[in-house]
Amino acid sequence: MNADRSIKHIAVLPGDGIGPEVTRQAIKVLEAVTQNSKFQFKLSYASIGAEAINLTGQALPDETLALCKQADAVLLGAIGDPYFDHRPELKVRPEQGLLQLRKSLGLFSNIRPVSYYEASSHLSPVRKERIKDFDLLILRELTGGIYFGEKKEDNEALYASDLCEYHRDEIERIAKMAFDYAGKRRGKLTLVDKANVLATSRLWRKVVQEMSSSYPEIEVDYMFVDNAAMQLILYPTQFDVILTENMFGDILSDEASVLSGSLGLLPSASIGEKYALFEPVHGAYPQARDKDIANPVASILSIAMMLDHFGLDSEAEQIRLAVKWSMDNSFVTIDLDPVNFQNTSVVGDLIAAHLQDHPSPTMDQQVVHLGKSSII
Ligand code: IPM
Ligand code: MN
Repeated sequence: MNADRSIKHIAVLPGDGIGPEVTRQAIKVLEAVTQNSKFQFKLSYASIGAEAINLTGQALPDETLALCKQADAVLLGAIGDPYFDHRPELKVRPEQGLLQLRKSLGLFSNIRPVSYYEASSHLSPVRKERIKDFDLLILRELTGGIYFGEKKEDNEALYASDLCEYHRDEIERIAKMAFDYAGKRRGKLTLVDKANVLATSRLWRKVVQEMSSSYPEIEVDYMFVDNAAMQLILYPTQFDVILTENMFGDILSDEASVLSGSLGLLPSASIGEKYALFEPVHGAYPQARDKDIANPVASILSIAMMLDHFGLDSEAEQIRLAVKWSMDNSFVTIDLDPVNFQNTSVVGDLIAAHLQDHPSPTMDQQVVHLGKSSII
C-alpha cells in the first residue's frame, strides 16, 4: 500500500471550550507539513458534546457518527461544559458524546505517550533529577470496565450503582498491543490493577500472565494502582509501557501528565479494528475559551500521532521536531511561560511557518543547533 498517494478523509470535531481554537492550530500544522508531500487530505467538520446538545439535543448527533464512520481518521478538540457539571440531574450530557463515539467506533485502545521536555521540566512538580529523560506510554482500555457497565440511579438520590465488567477478549486485544509496543521500546510492560480487591483485576492479571509466556523478551511487572500512583511520582523512569483498564488509565494519565510540566503538551490516539481517533488529553478548559491562550501543542502532537497511523513517519517526526524547536526557543503559551508567552494562534503560526521553512528533520536540527531561523 502506498499511503502517500491516497486522499485521506479526516472528520474534524472541534467540540467545546478551547477545542475549536487548538484544533485550528493543529489543522494549520497539518497543512504546513503536508504542503510539499504527496499526502492529500480532505476535512469534514461536525459537532459533538455541549455544542451538539445546543444545536441538536444530542451529544453525538447521528450525522456526526455517520461522518466519523466514513472517515479515515477523526480529529477531536475537547468536550465538556461547566453548565452541565453543575447540573448532575441533566440526562443528556456532553461527555456521553465522546463515550458513545468511542464505543460506536470500537476504539478500545487509548495510547497516551508522556515524556520529558527539557524546556518545561522546571514546571514539573517533581524534581528534575527524578524525571530526567523519563519516557512512558500509557495504554488505557477505552471501551469497557466501569465506564460502560450497567448504571443505576434512583430518583430520590438514595442509591446508585456502576457495574465494572471485562471479558477475556477485551483484555487480550489491548494486551497484545501493549506487548508489541514494549517490544519496539525498552522491553518493559507494567500491568496496573487492583487484583488484591477486584475480580476484574484478577482476570486482567491471569490473562496478561498467560500471554507473557509468548513474549519471553518482555519484562512484565504487576503493580497495584494505589502503589502505581505513588511510583509514578517517585520514580517515573522505572516505567516503559503501562497497561491498564479504563478508569485507572483515566486517572493515571492525568497524574502522569504533570510530569511533563503541562497537561497542554499531551496528545493521544484511540485505535480500534476499523477506526482511529486523535485528541489532546486535556479537556475543554472553559475558562480559557476564545481567549487565544490555550496551549495548542497537545492537539498539534495528536496530528503527529495521526500521521504515524497513516504511515507518514517522516512528517510525524517533522512535527515533533518543530514542537521541540518552538519550546526550545520559548515560543510557548502562558501555561509554560507566564511572563514571555505567545498566543495560541501565534504558536500555531510559528510551528507551521517553521515546518514550511525547514521541512527536513536534519536541517531542522541544524537550525536549532545554530540557534537561528527565519523567525527569530
Ligand atoms: C478523557 C476524559 C474523558 C474520560 C471524559 C471527558 C469522559 O477525561 O478522555 O480522559 O473520562 O475518558
Ligand atoms: Mn481523563
